[in-house]
Amino acid sequence: MKILNIVGARPNFMKMAPIIEAMNAYPEQINHLLVHTGQHYDEKMSSSFFVDLGMPRPDINLEVGSGSHAEQTAKIMVEFEKVCLREKPDLVIVVGDVNSTMACTITAKKLGIQVAHVEAGLRSRDMGMPEEINRLCTDVLCDFLFTTDHFADENLLAEGVGQEKIHFVGNVMIDTLLRHREKAKEVGLVDRWGLKPKGFATLTLHRPSNVDDPVVLGGLLEALADISRQLPIIFPIHPRTRKMAEQFGLSHFFSSGDAVSGLWVTEPLGYLEFLHLNMNARLVLTDSGGLQEETTVLGVPCITMRNNTERPITCELGTNFLVGNDPARVLECARKILSGDLPQGRVPDRWDGRAAERIVRVLLDEMAC
Ligand code: UD1
Repeated sequence: MKILNIVGARPNFMKMAPIIEAMNAYPEQINHLLVHTGQHYDEKMSSSFFVDLGMPRPDINLEVGSGSHAEQTAKIMVEFEKVCLREKPDLVIVVGDVNSTMACTITAKKLGIQVAHVEAGLRSRDMGMPEEINRLCTDVLCDFLFTTDHFADENLLAEGVGQEKIHFVGNVMIDTLLRHREKAKEVGLVDRWGLKPKGFATLTLHRPSNVDDPVVLGGLLEALADISRQLPIIFPIHPRTRKMAEQFGLSHFFSSGDAVSGLWVTEPLGYLEFLHLNMNARLVLTDSGGLQEETTVLGVPCITMRNNTERPITCELGTNFLVGNDPARVLECARKILSGDLPQGRVPDRWDGRAAERIVRVLLDEMAC
């Protein structure tokens, strides 16, 4: 069976790494190629992850780069169609919810190629999020829907997806976290930067709804700078956010000192470095998706600065607080957590490091039929 594995943007790499590893156990049955669309292309947003995760270099790079949503999606489709026609795969595997995920799904399906979606069924019910549109379009077309929790299964069933297509396998991103946990302990960044274990917070912020509006971004940065006077915050900044903060004249919120002072901005970090920081953080502040799941497994309190989440299990069982982007609510939640009001989380079922193995077993069983 010939499979094309697709990655495009930063959060895809850690999801695909364990799938490739699991496929490598079946060299007789599976011939797989890794296709990188090039949606993310900076060294710090892309290449460094291949090194950290021990992933093979992509066999094919579409090199599409940035653009408007339509431009980026269209470029991926045009280039990926050529790859599908040349390589004639039996199956395409997409992960997550980025533009590359949707673009490659549509392209493959229109050529009559089967597609599997890993991390299917997540729903924020917020059509203002480009990712929600990507999720809906992808799931409605896919032949195999691999899910992380019962909410996802229920969402798909409610949308009329046949039970036979849905496979609850667990969470591949957590496969990667569990594999790299010990190595991440040794990174030594906390010592090198003069931080104290559990004496700092980490922050990620990149959603268009939080960073593309000067009033929203300004309000959030003010609240975050306030929190950082009590607990230093390390902020590996996304290129989009850096660009916007500079454009809106908001860079003065960033500390010009070192890691132990205020809201300290650094370049995007590698996978192991960031995992090392999050393991040692007292608090994580984010608007990302995956980090809500990683903190739940690490048992670190997480404040999610969004009005909704496609990962409600992290609030129900885990350590996640969904507070929206009102600065007052962010501050109030941080104060509660810093005063010792800590959530007692538990790890969701099948987030046990074996999701990728389950996926490959389903594919071997069902594709052979
Ligand atoms: C994408 C995903 C988002 C994910 C995020 C993780 C979509 C719709 N969004 O958002 O779900 O959480 O990745 O990082 O697919 N840029 C660079 N270098 C890069 C990549 C991007 O400078 O390597 C800058 C460019 O100015 C670009 C902007 O970031 O225009 C946005 O990049 P894009 O890929 O469109 O979306 P992200 O915001 O990264």
